[in-house]
Amino acid sequence: MVRTADPTNLSTYEPILLRHVGVPEARTLEGYRARGGYKAAEKALTQMSADDVIDEVKRANLRGRGGAGFPAGVKWSFLPKDRTVTYLCVNADESEPPTFSNRVLMENDPHALIEGTIIAGYATRATTAYIYMRGEFWEQFHIVQKAIDEAYAAGILGKDIFGSGYGLNVYIHRGGGAYVCGEETGLIESIEGKRGWPRIKPPFPAIEGLFRKPTVVNNVETLCNVPHIIERGADWFLGIGPEGSSGPKLFCISGPVKKPGCYEWAMDISLRELIEDPRFGGGMRDGKKVKAVFPGGISMGVVTGDELDMKMNFTDPAKFGLLGLGTAAAVVVDDSIDIRTVIRNVARFFSHESCGQCTQCREGTSWMFKMTDRLAGNLGRREDLDLLAEVSGNMGMMPGMSICGLSDGAAFAIKTVIKKFRSELEECIARENPEAVKIALEVVN
Ligand SMILES: Cc1cc2nc3c(=O)[nH]c(=O)nc-3n(C[C@H](O)[C@H](O)[C@H](O)COP(=O)(O)O)c2cc1C
Ligand code: SF4
Repeated sequence: MVRTADPTNLSTYEPILLRHVGVPEARTLEGYRARGGYKAAEKALTQMSADDVIDEVKRANLRGRGGAGFPAGVKWSFLPKDRTVTYLCVNADESEPPTFSNRVLMENDPHALIEGTIIAGYATRATTAYIYMRGEFWEQFHIVQKAIDEAYAAGILGKDIFGSGYGLNVYIHRGGGAYVCGEETGLIESIEGKRGWPRIKPPFPAIEGLFRKPTVVNNVETLCNVPHIIERGADWFLGIGPEGSSGPKLFCISGPVKKPGCYEWAMDISLRELIEDPRFGGGMRDGKKVKAVFPGGISMGVVTGDELDMKMNFTDPAKFGLLGLGTAAAVVVDDSIDIRTVIRNVARFFSHESCGQCTQCREGTSWMFKMTDRLAGNLGRREDLDLLAEVSGNMGMMPGMSICGLSDGAAFAIKTVIKKFRSELEECIARENPEAVKIALEVVN
């Protein structure tokens, strides 16, 4: 279900990214242009140099919306000056559970994505862009492909766009449905027709990416912000939200809230507002209470019902022990749910999705699943909690042990649940498996 914040209640915020939700005619080229579409691309290509565009996006401090929050303009400026070929990859894999904001954008505003892609392509001197789209996005594939066809027919894609001399070809590459293919180098391998195994970095894609050429990978939401920055300027963008977390942002909310959906606001919103405010989640259904929330997709970790004052920006999540803001997609767990089933599902996901190249990720996610499966099946032992904490504590990228961030995500999801829900897990073990507790106490004594 897709919702924008209730316009009748909007006194301080004008939807920017979701302005075309519920406006089906904006999906067509004619309807998009009638609403001012492609003016920013025309401005960029005919009145600005590529470096001007990069400088404006850098000044706006547009941080990547795909999960890592890296500033887009800075990423673009890492491309070698003497390059002859550049590729642009649009990350539309949207594989992080429970994230669906890219889907909403592609469904409702496909030309906005194409416009952002044209401007980013011009800035980075890319003449070919691949939109790597999650395989399950069948309907969205057709919507975006139709928009691409319309743009070609109107001369907005292809050679000499707006008479600027700049040309761009855009292709959609459909993924096969693996989480790890959303990781930028797994995505690149997949476009090359190989198994989507992430690459060891360095070299980073800006130096050696798709077909071993300099490449930029950007998320759909990141690119949809770019036309607005070009049209209204970096200062306007910096004026939305707190310092370091500027610009419009999409937030997904799912679970037992009254109004699950995708909402837009500035990054000054708190998790509590996202859940409770009638403009967003609208509160819990059937009088349920919030027990836990994974606020940034599951791989950023969990907060408890007492930690809802966390701001959904790029800095606050770390103060609550999370890996980051991630995809800003919150999944709410209510007080009727056994935390053991939650941790088991999370571990099962990562174990299934690990590509298996790195030993600690392959083995660690598999052990974590076996232990959490035991816990959920009433056969958990108290020492399993320490073991789970130890395994997850040794899985991150920081010690340089893994090729990509999946390992970090798996570790944060599990270790934050163990840390924040330890007493509940211990109670379950003591209640359901007293024999194991007794044996453990005998061993200790
Ligand atoms: C396991 C894993 C899965 C990822 N999945 C996605 C994804 O589905 N979509 C996405 O945009 N970024 C995903 N990322 C992040 C990308 O590697 C990359 O940082 C991002 O696409 C860059 O775009 P941005 O700078 O515009 O955010 C994933 C990262 C990891 C480690
Ligand atoms: S960290 Fe995990 S998913 Fe990433 S490359 Fe290594 S094994 Fe594969």
